[in-house]
Amino acid sequence: MVSRKAIENAAKFIRDGNVVAFPTETVYGLGANALNPLAVARVFEAKERPSFDPLIVHIADSETIKVLSNTDDDRVKKLAEKFWPGPLTIVLPKSEIVSDLVTSGLPTVGIRMPDNDIALALIRAAACPIAAPSANKFGRLSPTSADHVRKQLPDIPCILNGGPTKVGIESTVIRLHDDGFEILRHGSITEAELETVLPVSAKGGKDQTNLPSPGLLKSHYSPEKPIYLLHDVPHDLNISEAALLSFSGQNTEGYKIVRYLSHDADLKEAAVNLFDMLHELEEANVSCIVAEPVPEEGIGSAIMDKLRKAAFRYV
Ligand code: TXA
Ligand code: MG
Repeated sequence: MVSRKAIENAAKFIRDGNVVAFPTETVYGLGANALNPLAVARVFEAKERPSFDPLIVHIADSETIKVLSNTDDDRVKKLAEKFWPGPLTIVLPKSEIVSDLVTSGLPTVGIRMPDNDIALALIRAAACPIAAPSANKFGRLSPTSADHVRKQLPDIPCILNGGPTKVGIESTVIRLHDDGFEILRHGSITEAELETVLPVSAKGGKDQTNLPSPGLLKSHYSPEKPIYLLHDVPHDLNISEAALLSFSGQNTEGYKIVRYLSHDADLKEAAVNLFDMLHELEEANVSCIVAEPVPEEGIGSAIMDKLRKAAFRYV
């Protein structure tokens, strides 16, 4: 879908200190050379992202961990072998070479190897690690297609169009303690999958005051319309003007529009559809979006995390 020439062209943008939007398996990223602070500043500017919010650095080769981090933790190798390329971001102590702009002044850096051939080819062609947040305006819906990127960031000159993303929600972000891992942001790799490699740390949840991380902000991923979780819908809401985002397929009568996250209660399918359907409904001629909660198991925890943050202002 994307030609070699398009990748070379995008890689030149990166090498020249410009930003490029590109697909990953989770969502589209807005990338810049992670080792060029000026280029990284352009990412923050384009997204209108506050500088307290650190970026994930994308690599194409596990050896690059050594460039970005001074860690010699064997557990990182184990995690990388099992989950990379894939939607797991590991927060590690950063090396000198990683600028404070990337990490928002934290002594740590989030690293992941995306499971997407276009992303990997771009990183290799640019010959540098690529710092990339999701390619949306800060706080808004994440993009799972090139059209979503264009809608929010029309001024980005270089967008690699790899079609719709296959996972649909962001990577799981973890950090390591001496007794195991802690999830900082729920994502497409579940706690149970991680536990096949490492135990959950008993130290999780502490020391978060020093951890500015919008994955932890209460409001995020917001569509341009009010969005309510089903049990928080105002009593006087006229549902004939509202859209329903359904998971169970039940009690769908009376809404103006109904979209089904999955047709057979499959949470992975729901994750793939989540942002795409929210993008569609925020543009639809409805007064608001009503979202039915999904079961909080497996990837359902990440879906509910996004829905709660999207609906936070409307509780
Ligand atoms: O799937 C993904 O992770 C996508 C694709 C593009 O890779 N990226 C993404 O980036 O979701 P972004 O910027 O929307 O979210 C990155 C989040 C930060 O908001 C923060 O919660 C966490 O990753 N993060 C990054 N570096 C961190 C660090 N050093 N310490 C703690 N959290 C960090
Ligand atoms: Mg984001």
